[in-house]
Amino acid sequence: MEYLRIKGGKPLAGEVRVQGSKNGALPLMTATVLIQGKTVLHNCPRIADIEAMADLLRTIGCKVGFDKDTITIDATHICDTHCPQKQVQAMRSSIMLLGPLLGRCKSIQMHRPGGCVIGERPTDIHEWALRRMNVEFISQGDTITAYTDRLTGADICLPFPSVGATENVIMAAVTAEGTTRLTNAAKEPEIRLLCEFLRKAGAKIRGIGTSVLEITGVDTLREVSMSIMADRIVAGTYLLAAAATGGQLFVRDAPSEQMQSLIGVLRHMGASVFVDRDIICIDAYEAKRPCPYIKTEVYPGFPTDLQSMLVAALALASGESVVEESIFEGRFRMVPQLCKMGADITEEGNRVRIRGVEKLCGTDLEAQELRGGAALVIAALAADGESRIHGLSYIERGYEDIVRDIRQLGGDIAYITGESNVPV
Ligand code: EPZ
Repeated sequence: MEYLRIKGGKPLAGEVRVQGSKNGALPLMTATVLIQGKTVLHNCPRIADIEAMADLLRTIGCKVGFDKDTITIDATHICDTHCPQKQVQAMRSSIMLLGPLLGRCKSIQMHRPGGCVIGERPTDIHEWALRRMNVEFISQGDTITAYTDRLTGADICLPFPSVGATENVIMAAVTAEGTTRLTNAAKEPEIRLLCEFLRKAGAKIRGIGTSVLEITGVDTLREVSMSIMADRIVAGTYLLAAAATGGQLFVRDAPSEQMQSLIGVLRHMGASVFVDRDIICIDAYEAKRPCPYIKTEVYPGFPTDLQSMLVAALALASGESVVEESIFEGRFRMVPQLCKMGADITEEGNRVRIRGVEKLCGTDLEAQELRGGAALVIAALAADGESRIHGLSYIERGYEDIVRDIRQLGGDIAYITGESNVPV
């Protein structure tokens, strides 16, 4: 049995460096399948989802090696387009192999990655868009079989700016025949990173950073090396931990230009936030003002991935807040756990109403998904007394070493493994 032991109740103070972006690295890893050669990615976070994607790429013939935070992927010999269920179901982002494998091998077979506790996570938009590019899908139960005799460019207007569907269309279009005009594309920073990576490999993409992308297919892509941007959600996690504990932090290597929505909310809450390029300094001693109403939105709105952590911070605000989740249907799983700590939060459909309380009390907690688990860490740091957070594997999917980072910020946190209860 392993868990995080946190003794909370004191303001965080210190400096932390932000790891590379999980949601930036994963699509770049799948895009390497389009390149018959070696790709080198620097500043790659060493987290469970990256290891899982590496395993999945190995099953189709890629050679994948790590040297600290540098990953090298040799996709010269792709030998199989059947993606095994075990590796595919390890994480939802396996679906982003659709576009690259269709582009490289014109076929793919994979078990549906399926949903998770935050939502059903359907792939209808991915499939609808790829059908417009001359892809046939045979759906047998939980297996997706797709093939094409030739990917062809198309005019595609996404019904919703799905991040994953945008990424799959881009990766299918870069070596398709003709031009693809993608409108209502997602504009998350991770899309820009993918486009810049593919352009560096020789792809012809116009409109990068906008919701209208024009992609003209090329015959081949060349070997690339590239550095992955910092993780805006991890950076936001530590800023919200400062808000919850009334702390003062320096967050280095932060992609501050991608975090304007969160910075605005923190300032509204009463925190002082100073930005100097990739350094964010926050003084959250006064950050107790509630948020009367905030809604998660697609980028550049307030990110859904920070919603549960904001709820945790608002549990100690000096009044009532309302947070509406507009992206996923099951992203309030952490609420009962926060209420166990003394938070006063009620769920009202896709909204939660948070009545700030004077204090939270540490207790035994269970993480049920990645970002909800991070929210419990934040609440435990702000709570009086000791908390034990189980479900570590969820947190490790997105955070390289949350104990290392929180300790650098002065938090009293330890991994407890086995019955010895000896902190590590
Ligand atoms: C990406 O997921 C991220 N994951 C998520 O981060 C993030 O929360 C999400 O984008 C939104 O920003 C990665 O990049 C690996 P979507 P993705 O397609 O691509 C619905 C984390 O914690 N939808 O934009 O799956 C879907 O059900 C993770 O790091 C369809 O209905 O997100 C959801 O309600 C969690 N049909 C909404 O759109 C489809 O075909 C947004 O999904 C596709 C999506």
